[in-house]
Amino acid sequence: MLFLCSLIPLFTVGVAAQDASTAATAATAARAACLATRQDLGPTKVKFSGTQYDDTTEAYWSFFNRGDEPTCIVYPSSASDVQAAMRHIFHSQSDYAVRAGGHSPMIGWNGINNGVLISFEDMTDVSYDASSDTITVQPGATAGSAEAAVESHGVSPVWGRADVIGTGLLLGGGISFQGPLYGWASDRIKELDVVLVTGELVTATATNEYSDLFRALRGGANRFGIVTRYELYAAHTGTRDDKLWYGGLIVYPGSSSTALLKATAHYVRDLTDPNAAAIMILNAYDTTSTTAHACYFFYKGTSLPASVFGEFLSIPSTSQNFSSYSFYDITFLIQGDNGPNGQQYGASAFIGDEATFINGYAKAVNFTQHFKEQLIRSEYTISPIPLSVWAASLSGPNSIGNPGVNYATVDFNLVFPDNEATRPPVLNAAFKLLLAQNPPSPGLPLYINECHQSQEVFASYRNYPALKAAYAKYDPTGFNVAHTRGPKGL
Ligand SMILES: Cc1cc2nc3c(=O)[nH]c(=O)nc-3n(C[C@H](O)[C@H](O)[C@H](O)COP(=O)(O)OP(=O)(O)OC[C@H]3O[C@@H](n4cnc5c(N)ncnc54)[C@H](O)[C@@H]3O)c2cc1C
Ligand SMILES: *[C@@H]1O[C@H](CO)[C@@H](O)[C@H](O)[C@H]1NC(C)=O
Ligand SMILES: *[C@@H]1O[C@H](CO)[C@@H](O)[C@H](O)[C@H]1NC(C)=O
Repeated sequence: MLFLCSLIPLFTVGVAAQDASTAATAATAARAACLATRQDLGPTKVKFSGTQYDDTTEAYWSFFNRGDEPTCIVYPSSASDVQAAMRHIFHSQSDYAVRAGGHSPMIGWNGINNGVLISFEDMTDVSYDASSDTITVQPGATAGSAEAAVESHGVSPVWGRADVIGTGLLLGGGISFQGPLYGWASDRIKELDVVLVTGELVTATATNEYSDLFRALRGGANRFGIVTRYELYAAHTGTRDDKLWYGGLIVYPGSSSTALLKATAHYVRDLTDPNAAAIMILNAYDTTSTTAHACYFFYKGTSLPASVFGEFLSIPSTSQNFSSYSFYDITFLIQGDNGPNGQQYGASAFIGDEATFINGYAKAVNFTQHFKEQLIRSEYTISPIPLSVWAASLSGPNSIGNPGVNYATVDFNLVFPDNEATRPPVLNAAFKLLLAQNPPSPGLPLYINECHQSQEVFASYRNYPALKAAYAKYDPTGFNVAHTRGPKGL
């Protein structure tokens, strides 16, 4: 067993807990929480087994997150259902996990053994209110379902770059092609309904008595409570027929790697135009292929201006495929469906410095060469975060905190063979070395939605002290740290 529950049995004294007795204690607490919740909500919303239960435990993006055996799965249809479940989880001192879109590859952050899983697949409503100009989203919606529900009004939620991603993205930050223009997804939240650990339901906004909670939740991921309603400021992007963006995909051969890394560093360093967006996905597995690297470039306009993209356009490429796109088209462009592969993320963050990007890629290639047999792909994915992303915030500061400089998040993404459940310990040790070889440039935050579960992401936040203070205030017994797995550091 690779990962133990982060369980602190409050009422256990005497001999040091063994794995088995810890698991038994957890199972007993979870069973009590499940039975009490089923008493309140009935058997259709609380399942101990069956088809829906089995489907939920398999519906994860990464193979490594599948096959957990929650004591029960709660399928709420309202905030009050979540309140009931949370009251019983808290009272029973049960472990639990929350699942929205199931796309986080961090182990244990969206699934559980010997605990209660709360799955939002029956809360998927999305609506647009023209009078408030906001989009209200239940936690089971995805980027694609939300976009499809509102685009006819000429508006969009700001989310990520793949339609299948769930609302968990909104709590971690949220990087999208529209980010330079519209900000982090987290920074377009107007209100959050949140069930606190005790089961109390509160509405948090930038200006009400829960403004500290509102800020903590935006970057704080799953640590501060269970969100049951997101009210998002709409972006006025046009309908699916309004092709207001131009751009697309350039594929580069491995022989262009160094030129591409230099161009990326320059783009990250110099970008000031919020109409421009890009993602660079470099292949660290097959560095010789003619189709090694995939980069998407977009511009809100009718061309890719040479003043912004000229260097990328002049590097020898294998293919270029550009056209006009609506926001809707872009939402559905990149595939992210659940596949047969285990996935692993690791995060860094770089300022626009050539040597840093080149060194990081060389280390990723070196790592990958050592584990070619254990992997089928290895990617070095770069997401530029220009200062305009922060300037566009409509929600006030988030808990990540503006570092005051253009930078990029870097995601080391390993892809394992189909249905391969295990990773050799030596690979995990080497992956930690790879991350240690690629620390964030001084003062930069790590991105929680792209991290490895071992990384100290919160400690990299500019607003870490405020995050810790909010945690101590809203979860004074430390229940979530003890009973649900998630980011370290609180
Ligand atoms: C193919 C793919 C493409 C991606 N592209 C992007 C991208 O373009 N931009 C970007 O920023 N990120 C991207 N990501 C990363 C993505 O943001 C994270 O994986 C995100 O956590 C997924 O959210 P989810 O709801 O699908 O996942 P889940 O695993 O269900 O949830 C993620 C975390 O949030 C917690 N959580 C979910 N809902 C709630 C709630 N209501 N209350 C409290 N906690 C909750 C969960 O417990 C879990 O810890 C991508 C990931 C994948 C796999
Ligand atoms: C070009 O991109 C479009 C999507 O925008 C896609 O449908 C098409 O298949 C692509 N063409 C090639 C040759 O890759
Ligand atoms: C390459 O990776 C291996 C395996 O992790 C490691 O032992 C070695 O130090 C790395 N070399 C460099 C130059 O980083």
